[in-house]
Amino acid sequence: MGFAVAAAAVARGADVLLVAGPVSLPTPAGLARIDVRSAAQMHEAVMATLPCDVYVGAAAVADYTPASISPAKIKKQPGQDGLVLQLVRTRDILADVASHASRPALVVGFAAETQDVDDYARAKLVAKNLDLIAANRVGVEGSGFESDANTLIVHDAQGATTLGPAAKTELAHGLLDLIEARLP
Ligand code: C5P
Repeated sequence: MGFAVAAAAVARGADVLLVAGPVSLPTPAGLARIDVRSAAQMHEAVMATLPCDVYVGAAAVADYTPASISPAKIKKQPGQDGLVLQLVRTRDILADVASHASRPALVVGFAAETQDVDDYARAKLVAKNLDLIAANRVGVEGSGFESDANTLIVHDAQGATTLGPAAKTELAHGLLDLIEARLP
């Protein structure tokens, strides 16, 4: 969805910077792209783009990251049947953008959920101080990750708008219609 929103925004005349994690998607024409591998790198790259007018956070950022990175291969030990890796929380890029001194006029998040999609989405809208959040149900056929079609329920403080089911390009334009209507 992030790539679809970026391409649709370019088509509507926006200057777009796409910060992408490790995906095998071609770069849409007409935008600048920064590739990152880790949540920490994505955080740094996104913060460096501020100020901007609109931020759309669509990446499925890892919530936890290894506490330390071994410089060498971790060898299995005789008699060791299990291995516990210490993980620490990653920083929430979206929440940090929304609370930044140079906060964009519109901050938009995504919420991929398997259940209670709208309740979780509304809670995130408030907790992360967002203007819009696009909720989608994952784990059902024809929706969410690695699917060309999707349904989005876009919440703001007042209520919700359902977009789709439709192709991601169409959904991206629907989301950008909602964003444009709220731009100062
Ligand atoms: O809290 P949750 O991960 O479900 O929220 C999803 C939203 O938050 C998405 O827009 C995602 O891109 C963003 N996010 C983020 N940084 C994180 C985790 C999630 O920007 N570390």
